[in-house]
Formats: sequence, structure tokens, C-alpha cells
Amino acid sequence: CGIVGYIGQRNAWEVIIKGLHRLEYRGYDSAGVALINQDQLNIYKKAGKVSDLENFSDGKNIKGAIGMGHTRWATHGAPSDRNSHPHTSGDGKLAIIHNGIIENYATLKEELISRGHHFNSDTDTEVLIHLIEEIQQQEQVDLLEAVRLSLNEVIGAYAIVVMSEDHPDQLIAARKGSPMVIGVGDGEYFIASDASPIVEYTKNVIYLKDKEIAFLKRDELLIKTIDNVVHSPYIQELELKLEMLEKGGFDHFMLKEIFEQPRSIYDCMRGRIYPNEGKVQLGGVKEYVEKLKNVDRIIIVACGTSWHAGLVGEYLIEEYARIPVEVEYASEFRYRNPIISEKDIVIAISQSGETADTMAAIELAKEKGATIFGICNVVGSSIPRISHAGIYTHAGPEIGVASTKAFTAQVTALTLFAFYVAQQRGKITESQLITYLTELETIPSLVETALKSNELIKKIAEHFIDSRNCLFLGRGSGFPVALEGALKLKEISYIHAEGYPAAEMKHGPIALIDEEMPVIFIATKNSSYEKVISNIQEVKARKGVVIAIVTEGDITVKNMVDYSIEIPDTNEAFLPLIATIPLQLLSYHIAVMRGCNVDQPRNLAKSVTVE
Ligand code: G6P
Repeated sequence: CGIVGYIGQRNAWEVIIKGLHRLEYRGYDSAGVALINQDQLNIYKKAGKVSDLENFSDGKNIKGAIGMGHTRWATHGAPSDRNSHPHTSGDGKLAIIHNGIIENYATLKEELISRGHHFNSDTDTEVLIHLIEEIQQQEQVDLLEAVRLSLNEVIGAYAIVVMSEDHPDQLIAARKGSPMVIGVGDGEYFIASDASPIVEYTKNVIYLKDKEIAFLKRDELLIKTIDNVVHSPYIQELELKLEMLEKGGFDHFMLKEIFEQPRSIYDCMRGRIYPNEGKVQLGGVKEYVEKLKNVDRIIIVACGTSWHAGLVGEYLIEEYARIPVEVEYASEFRYRNPIISEKDIVIAISQSGETADTMAAIELAKEKGATIFGICNVVGSSIPRISHAGIYTHAGPEIGVASTKAFTAQVTALTLFAFYVAQQRGKITESQLITYLTELETIPSLVETALKSNELIKKIAEHFIDSRNCLFLGRGSGFPVALEGALKLKEISYIHAEGYPAAEMKHGPIALIDEEMPVIFIATKNSSYEKVISNIQEVKARKGVVIAIVTEGDITVKNMVDYSIEIPDTNEAFLPLIATIPLQLLSYHIAVMRGCNVDQPRNLAKSVTVE
């Protein structure tokens, strides 16, 4: 979910609505705003997108210089008007917006019902605001203290903002496990789940820490912990620029981000590779170089697309640094009793740096003494802060919910890491490194070349808009590319798609193949080329329709398949960085032609801060 709050002199509605649009990637099944105008609390909320809320509020009283808004990704309670945030207390004077999950809400709700509270929604959030009301009345304390005491009774994750009709000059915000940033203006404050709603008003921000509560008036800010210890605020300067958050002439953020990849991959390598000297430098993990030299295994934890990047990382680290790697879904890892010790290095990969399951996996590994490296995109997010060391991917803000440039940047960071460790462990010679790094440096321009197939891919896409299923096959590091290709297609076009190791096809998916079934092969010229060709023939023999990603100039495969898309030749180590590009474009065009909302596919959220 996304949160925005404002207190100052401006029209709060405008600040909040604009901010909610920027945060819509975090969830978009309902939206709501609370405003105080002339000491009266007004709430507008609606199932649907922020634009539905705007239509709904048209002509209503949306004045006020203090307010808060929310865009929701449903956890408790289906998306509906009544389950939308803000929620109010029994007397209607207090309002809350919340991102996260209150795990003990059922027990709290029962107690509150026994004390005469009535609830209007199925959400855990409404329970929290009733609890605040109850404590305020029972203990005869001010609002800040009531919020603080309530948070001490809550188990779970939250980022909340609370307003009160009785205190029309105050906003109270708090977080635990869910991110929250405060923008510091001149006589005004902004609150948001990330800096994107704030950047056009101020560059000065405070990242609220876990278990901190912020008390805000127009010209006053107090931060204390839920244990009642006052903290002095640490103001940082934002690096984010407004242009980074706009579409810049593209129809969708996703397309813009696909086309940004030559730059984002370059930005990830910048200052880290020295091809002439055959050297990789990774300042963020340098401190742990001795540990890296002696480590016996590496465990990678991640979710979604980041997990796919982890699989590519496994190939690279094993191949070049010769360290055994295990790649785990963070959500599975944390609920087992994983065998892990202080000897291990755990790499957590996350675009947002906020994914709840990945954070929990880190905490578990940390408890067991492991060293944690974070590979994250969002600077200052939670995972880099709880990790011992790490590598920022520097892809810039990714707004499209389906990850594109963040994935290739993660793969780039893992490539650098594999070579860095190989170099430190003496598994690669200087001259080999010179060769690899010289080629790595050309990847941004090869990606540029791969993007030139956009129009061709669009034409190919036309043939598949009515497909119901799709199979993506690859071998070696082409396998995670296939998985990622399938995930992209299902996420944004809602066509069922599966990624499989090409050789495994004969153990199951082959049964699905008929003339209706498109099969996409990563069939580039590398060590498994001949084997992949046999797999293509197996599909053709069953009348499957084949689209192949092939190496520039490869006539053999081209003549065998129905559609082929060329990519420039590169060392096998860098294949995923190039082969991913046409698959992103293919999914994009199919989804657009099917009329899907590619930037905000149904039911998904960009940053999943619930477990
Ligand atoms: C969500 C997003 C995916 C993303 C995954 C992991 O499901 O929709 O695109 O890959 O979370 O997110 P992270 O921020 O940890 O990379």
C-alpha cells in the first residue's frame, strides 16, 4: 500500500492525489483521502484506482491544508468502498491510514467488541484506530501518547498516519517494518511511503526508523520511539530527480524502463570495472573480502523477478568464483529450519529493498550468525539498512510493476560480484579478466542493438494476442531467462505461461504442445546450442509454434522456426543481459494489444511489504 500525508499551507488534496498517483505502483485496488477543513474531518474513499477516487470526489468539498491519503493492496478484506482507507474511530473523530498487517487484530477486535465497539469494515486497520480511541479515553492521555501505547499492543508490521478532528493542526505517523519518509519543507511537512510524492516540494527528508513515531505540526517535529525515547531527526538530502519519475514521451513506464536499460546497466557498472587493468572494485563489500576468500557456500534469498536474477547469479558465481550457491525463495527459506551458520554468506536480492519475506529471511539468517549482503535498487530502503554490506544496483526508480531494468541491473551487479570474488580467490587470471571486462563494458551498446528489434517484435506479438498458454524454454543461464520471460508474460498479459529447462520439456510440458501453443526458445549460439536445436525439433515435430531468440546471423535456427528474433553475439556469461530484452518487449506488446494495463497489472503490487 502507499501512504501520503501533508500538513502546511498548500491545498492538501492536490499534494495527496498527485502523491497517490506516484505511489499507485504499491497497490491500486482502492484509494482514499482524509482532510480537515474548518475543524471538520472529511473522508472520501472508493474501490478502484486513484482516478476513480478523483471522479467520485468531483464537486465535493476537498479543501483543507492538512490531510492524508492511501492507495491499497488488499490483505484483510476484499477491495471495496468500505474496506478502503482511511478508517475512523467509533466517534468518527479519529482517522487512520495503514500499510502492513496487524497480526493480533482478531484478539484485539474481540476485546474491543466486548467493550462496546462496532466495526464497519473487515480490516485489521479499523481495529487499530478503535484501540487508539479506547486508550485515549481510558487513560486520559493525548493523541500522541494514545498512539504510542496502542502500538505497544500491536503485533505485526505497520506504517500509519493518524489525524484527529479535535487536533486539526497535528499529524502522527509511525512505522515498523513498512517504509516511511518525511519531507521537511518550510512551515510544512510531507509524509510518504517513498520519496516520490515528496521530491517536487523538498529535497530534505528523514527516513523514519522502525518503531519510531513522528509528531508533526506545521512548524514542529518530534520523533520518539514507541518505548518513549526521544530521537533527534536526521535530515538527508534526496538524490531522486523529478524527471526520473515521469514517462518522458513513452506510452508506459514499462516501455520507458525497457529502453533505459543501456543506461541502467552502465550505471550499475560505472566506477566498478577497470577493463584495462583487469580489475573489479566493489566498495560495498570490500570490508568482507577475507570472508569472501574463505567462504564455503553462498545462499541467495529473494522473491519474484529478483529470485530469477538470483538463479543467474548462481551460474555466474559457481562458474567463475567456484563457490557453491543455493538460491532460495525467501518465503520458503524462512519457514523452514534452514541449516545456516556464521560461516555462510547470504545475499538478499530486492529491487524495492522492502519485501517482507526477504526481510524476514535476512533476520533469520542474521540470528544464526550469517553475513548478509543486500543487492537492492532503492537507496536507503530497509534491506540495505539491515544488511552488513551490499551492492546498490543504481537502475534508478522503477515505476512499472513488472520489473525490467531492475532485473538486468541485478544481473549486472551479480556479474560484477562473481568476477570480484573470482579475482579475490585467484580463480581467474588478470588477462582473462581483461577479456571479460572489456566485453562487459560493451553490453550497454549490445542492449541498444537488441532494442532495435522492437518493431519486429511488435509484429510478431500480433500473432499471439489470443494465445491462452505459452511455454518459455532455455538451458544453462538461458533457463532463468526463460522463467523471467514467462513471468513477464503472465504478469502483464494474463496469458498463462511457464518457464522450463529446455531438456525437462520432454518430462511433462511436451504433452501440452499442439498447433495452438507458442513455444519460445532461447536458442543462442552457446555451449548448449546443439541440444536446444534438438528440443526445437521435438516441438516442431508436434506442430508447436516456435519463436526463437537467436544469435545474429544464425540461419540454421531461423529456417527451422516460425519466428526468430536476433540478438547480438556475446560471451555466454552475459547472455541473460541481452536475451531478456526481446522477451520483455514481446510481453509488453502482447499485453498492450490485449488492452491490459501494463504498468499496473491486476492484483499485483510492486512492493510487497506483507508476508
Ligand atoms: C513483487 C513484484 C515483483 C518483484 C517481487 C520482489 O511481486 O510485483 O516484480 O519481483 O515483488 O520484489 P523486490 O522489490 O524484493 O525485488
